[in-house]
Amino acid sequence: MENFPRKELVKVVQSGMTGSRSAFALAVGRFATKLKDLDLQLAQEIAQFLSTENVMRGAGDFVPAPVDADSRMELVETVFPVVVPKKPVFNEAVQGVLEDVLREWRSLDLLIQEGLAPARMLLFCGQPGVGKTLAAYWLAQELKLPLLTLNLATVMSSYLGKTGNNVRAVFDHAVSRPCVLLLDEFDAIAKRRDDDSDVGELKRLVNVLLQALDDWPANSLLIAATNHGELLDPAVWRRFDHVIQFEPPSADLIEDYLSDIPMDSEVRQNMAALLQGESFSTIGQLMHASRKIALLEKSDLVPTLVKGAVRLRMSKGAMSKPHEGEMLLMYLAGQSRREIAATLGKTHPTVSRVIKRYLGE
Ligand SMILES: Nc1ncnc2c1ncn2[C@@H]1O[C@H](COP(=O)(O)OP(=O)(O)O)[C@@H](O)[C@H]1O
Ligand SMILES: [Mg+2]
Repeated sequence: MENFPRKELVKVVQSGMTGSRSAFALAVGRFATKLKDLDLQLAQEIAQFLSTENVMRGAGDFVPAPVDADSRMELVETVFPVVVPKKPVFNEAVQGVLEDVLREWRSLDLLIQEGLAPARMLLFCGQPGVGKTLAAYWLAQELKLPLLTLNLATVMSSYLGKTGNNVRAVFDHAVSRPCVLLLDEFDAIAKRRDDDSDVGELKRLVNVLLQALDDWPANSLLIAATNHGELLDPAVWRRFDHVIQFEPPSADLIEDYLSDIPMDSEVRQNMAALLQGESFSTIGQLMHASRKIALLEKSDLVPTLVKGAVRLRMSKGAMSKPHEGEMLLMYLAGQSRREIAATLGKTHPTVSRVIKRYLGE
């Protein structure tokens, strides 16, 4: 029995007695893989039990969510089934990693049978409104798993002194069946470090978190989202399979995002260029607000949108040619091209060109 995978067999027994279902399945997968050289048939016989269905079978439904001992408030929010009405728009780099993760999860059988775990932990970084939370929802939808959200900022500010216990309770709850657990506002922990008054508390919390991350099972996906990735402890960083940087959208992606709104393609392109620098969330709000204004004022959507976009960019001093913004606002307020040209000291063709570019008129 020279080549017999002893170590692997011991792991199987150990994880079978103490670990989660997925840890057990992984150990069996590693054992079966090593056994192949020795006894292929036996290895195959064992591996056949490692189906996705078996691995993903949880302990039934979630028990009620844990609550804070004092306030009785729920510590975690559960959504199932998750429905994202419109496919989010991501740049190629982000889309690529998300697709890789999905592919691994869809081939769970194959991976587990070889003793390989799929990506279990993702860290999403990026400024607010770029789609971190949305991406977590999208993955949960695609994987048909419940999404549990723990907002660390909320838990930490309200229940100082008991944060560690609360976080542990949420993890215990989450690992009771396959799910996507989203730790939103993950930087709340890192930020707190500046505050001397609760250094001890913070250390405890970081330790609880590191332990929980180490124990995270292979049949659930953990996603941490932060606006300040740079503030995180390197020990935390290292534990993630992928760190994904979400960027504000490029002009091309904004064009995609605006594709629902019927407008001349050149106008759409110019509008996208005008909005470059804004987050998806701001652009989404602008579209939503413009739809309502257009409906209530019985006006056309495109000019309403242009007016909103120009105002937004002008208010931030973000238009490279502010006089173009002024021209557009004057025109949309009902002034003629000739009046505008005279007021601003520009030629009539210049004014016409700008109006054509953003309004197609
Ligand atoms: N990549 C995206 N594609 C489509 N819509 C987006 C995208 N990112 C953000 N949004 C819009 O902005 C809103 C807020 O995004 P969110 O995911 O909460 O941002 P973050 O978590 O990064 O702060 C979303 O609900 C959605 O309407
Ligand atoms: Mg968010």
